[in-house]
Amino acid sequence: MAPKITVIGSMNMDLVTEVERPPKPGETIRGQRFYFHPGGKGANQAVAAARLGADVTMIGCVGDDIFGDQLIDNLRQKNVNTEHIQVIKGKSSGTAQITVKHESNSIIVVPGANNEVSAAYVASLEAVITQSDVVLLQLEIPLSTVMAAAKIAHDHGILVILNPAPFQRLSPELIDLIDYLTPNELEYDDLMKNARSRELAKKLIVTKGKRGAQYFDGERLATVPTYNVEVVDTTGAGDAFNGALAYCLAKNKPLDTAIHFANAVGALSVKRHGAQEGMPTLEEVQLFLRREE
Ligand code: RIB
Ligand code: NA
Repeated sequence: MAPKITVIGSMNMDLVTEVERPPKPGETIRGQRFYFHPGGKGANQAVAAARLGADVTMIGCVGDDIFGDQLIDNLRQKNVNTEHIQVIKGKSSGTAQITVKHESNSIIVVPGANNEVSAAYVASLEAVITQSDVVLLQLEIPLSTVMAAAKIAHDHGILVILNPAPFQRLSPELIDLIDYLTPNELEYDDLMKNARSRELAKKLIVTKGKRGAQYFDGERLATVPTYNVEVVDTTGAGDAFNGALAYCLAKNKPLDTAIHFANAVGALSVKRHGAQEGMPTLEEVQLFLRREE
């Protein structure tokens, strides 16, 4: 049976501009290319897991604008269950203005309807959430909702993964409800500034881009190296990692195996433009791993 994953999180339309360098304040420059495609950390992670074969349900909100319809259609086409997504009247869908410059990108996110994902709405879907093997969360919806979702899942013994991005300060109560936290290096630094580090350390999986990922192996932070690939667009690489990690843990894979696999999925995702288009299928990952090993 396909593992069941519920993602409670954001959907954005990504408006992407490729540039050779960012403009200075007051300056107009010429960009190389503009395109837009569906993104949002929640949706990206949902797509990553669905591509691998997980049975994924998305819980979140879009606006009643053209982007909202496109965001839902896109997820449906990518085999994500969209029946519980809410369309919020009079709100804009979330957007992310992304500037891509070779291997780095910068992002401005306007949450729009993602701010409307409420604790009450999540509570009304308790029966859906409690059927999951894994609940996957990020921080592009209100923190109170993340807390409510984590509580429902935790109370039912469901594994909870929180990707703390974009970073917000987390309460010890929330951290207690989470099984794994997956910060990148910057988020890790922020997290360690205000946390009881001993308990937290056991839950950490830190993604380090080209340098792989680190996790607590029971004694110390162990490094799982990643793969060298030609980079086209790193947008969504962290999401690829998280979706794949959720998939493996929902299948009860050991943590080190799961991280190894998630590294491969993250690496493959950067070979194509866009946050979601690069998410590999299970066959693509297996083929890649066979070639690399
Ligand atoms: O993680 C990448 C995502 O962050 C983009 O798709 C964008 O929507 C922002 O939310
Ligand atoms: Na990509």
